[in-house]
Amino acid sequence: MTPHNHAKAGDYAPAVLLPGDPLRAKWIAETFFEAPKLVNSVRNCLGYTGTWKGKPVSVQASGMGQPSLAIYVHELINVYGVQSLIRVGTCGGLNAKVKVRDLILAQGASTDSSIVKGRFGAFNFAPIADFGLLRSAADKAEAAGLRFHAGNLLSSDIFYHADGFAGYDKLPEHGVLGVEMEAAVLYTLAARFGVKALTICTMTDCLITHAEISADERQSSLTEMVELALDVAVES
Ligand code: HPA
Repeated sequence: MTPHNHAKAGDYAPAVLLPGDPLRAKWIAETFFEAPKLVNSVRNCLGYTGTWKGKPVSVQASGMGQPSLAIYVHELINVYGVQSLIRVGTCGGLNAKVKVRDLILAQGASTDSSIVKGRFGAFNFAPIADFGLLRSAADKAEAAGLRFHAGNLLSSDIFYHADGFAGYDKLPEHGVLGVEMEAAVLYTLAARFGVKALTICTMTDCLITHAEISADERQSSLTEMVELALDVAVES
């Protein structure tokens, strides 16, 4: 039990999916898990444990942004013994080659977050995905015929950037594919505590072309992303 999580020791499986939205956590558990059990509802930040293809797995909402995710992830690792954490989210597109509904496997996560920058003094730490999870996700996405890109994501602390796209323009010039708000801290905590992490995002709105995903595409692409993440999680 923690101030943010009333689950008991042993309530989480060793591998946990991390959507930002609590209702997406509920949807994942109720749609994909066999025998889902609610393990956390503090602040309605829902967490569930069940099985996928007969193997134990959990889902825990992270909330939006790096400070919120960092609380849940810190506790999942240090209080509940979680070993593999896979964020499943959406991102904005920063590169015209990434089309709406394409998956981005975040090989690395650049960031403006003081949570990451503040810890390393003169150094620029490079938050990276676990290679085994990344390779597994890329292999499975390829086998399933999903459109995906592996590369650098931006994890920003700012959604409404005062300088609009110009606030980001140096990053696409250096190959950054998309922007979301959580991966860099997830990778930094995983590195610090010696566990595995990966972020998979569906690109839902392109900041360059202004193309947006339709409601139908959103649902079917989320299903593909979650099935992929669950297959990676239970083998991790
Ligand atoms: N910015 C940050 N996070 C996001 C975006 C965005 O444009 N789209 C989806 N998640």
